[in-house]
Amino acid sequence: MKVLEVQNLTISFDGKNAVDGVSIDLEDSEIVGLVGESGCGKSLTAFSVLGIYPPNSKLTGKILYKGKDLLTLDEESKRKIRGNQISLIPQDPLSALNPVFTVGNQIAEVLEVHKQVSYKDALLSAKSSLEMMNIPNPSSRINDYPHQFSGGMKQRALIAMALVGQPDVLIADEPTTALDVTIQLQILEIMKNLKKQKKAILLITHDLAQVSEICDRVYVMYLGKIVEHGLTKDIFTNPKHPYTIGLLNSLPDENKKLLNPIFGQPPSINSIPLGCAFHPRCPFVFEKCKKEIPELYDITDNKHHRSRCFLEIGKK
Ligand SMILES: Nc1ncnc2c1ncn2[C@@H]1O[C@H](COP(=O)(O)OP(=O)(O)OP(=O)(O)O)[C@@H](O)[C@H]1O
Ligand SMILES: [Mg+2]
Repeated sequence: MKVLEVQNLTISFDGKNAVDGVSIDLEDSEIVGLVGESGCGKSLTAFSVLGIYPPNSKLTGKILYKGKDLLTLDEESKRKIRGNQISLIPQDPLSALNPVFTVGNQIAEVLEVHKQVSYKDALLSAKSSLEMMNIPNPSSRINDYPHQFSGGMKQRALIAMALVGQPDVLIADEPTTALDVTIQLQILEIMKNLKKQKKAILLITHDLAQVSEICDRVYVMYLGKIVEHGLTKDIFTNPKHPYTIGLLNSLPDENKKLLNPIFGQPPSINSIPLGCAFHPRCPFVFEKCKKEIPELYDITDNKHHRSRCFLEIGKK
């Protein structure tokens, strides 16, 4: 069943689109990856799913949770869904925890607000959620303030906070970036377990190895647009968009040496190239790419795989 449908989402600043017509579906029991270079609009997309977007931005499109458009709900209804049915592990653990409350208090509050449990029971759940995240001595650690936690522990506390309400949909925005490898692996295991419990997960990451390890499907984003999406195995074995091909070719080898980085830098949203936004960096560019914006075209014989590239419809 589809639990989340982002439909034609556009988020603009001063008329410039940072997110441009993005559509993403999530089914239950599915882990879906969202990848792309820094600044392409991943976090804006993630936060908008929770109904949070910068006050200076303009947002259009639909965000359906089990068919209900979240963007048209009043604040109270949005708040009920946020942290309860849908929760977010934010990218920046430092700014997401409140320095004046204990960690246990902040985790427990999620339950108090949403599940009408007593504070005492909520604290017990907070403790077991820290335990699940392998925080040592959780009974005493729940009384610590965020500054008493290391960076990696803060990140794990945020993950505990996102999971304690047992949401149906988890949006994880680079959840393992600040963590060392063993803990990264534990978090990937936790996500696999959530999938077994029929949850839907959107995993935003720079790490393609993680995507190939746990994602069922992948969306590739470039300068605000989805440029390719499909089953993970198809994206990895048969990438179609030149940007995806570039990303895969630029994976580091066993000696951690970057092999073939994509030429150039992504342009900023203030100077999005005409035509296909990737054309100035594309090794396959031809005249039409400089003038017209390609659609997401179906890949022949694969209804799950689409690429935003004129190569799919021939060089005419
Ligand atoms: N409040 C804001 N005002 C103006 N521009 C913004 C604002 N927030 C985000 N942007 C712009 O929107 C674009 C997308 O930002 P976003 O944070 O979604 O990128 P990202 O893909 O998450 O990048 P990263 O991988 O670095 O986390 C960027 O160009 C950014 O500068
Ligand atoms: Mg981001």
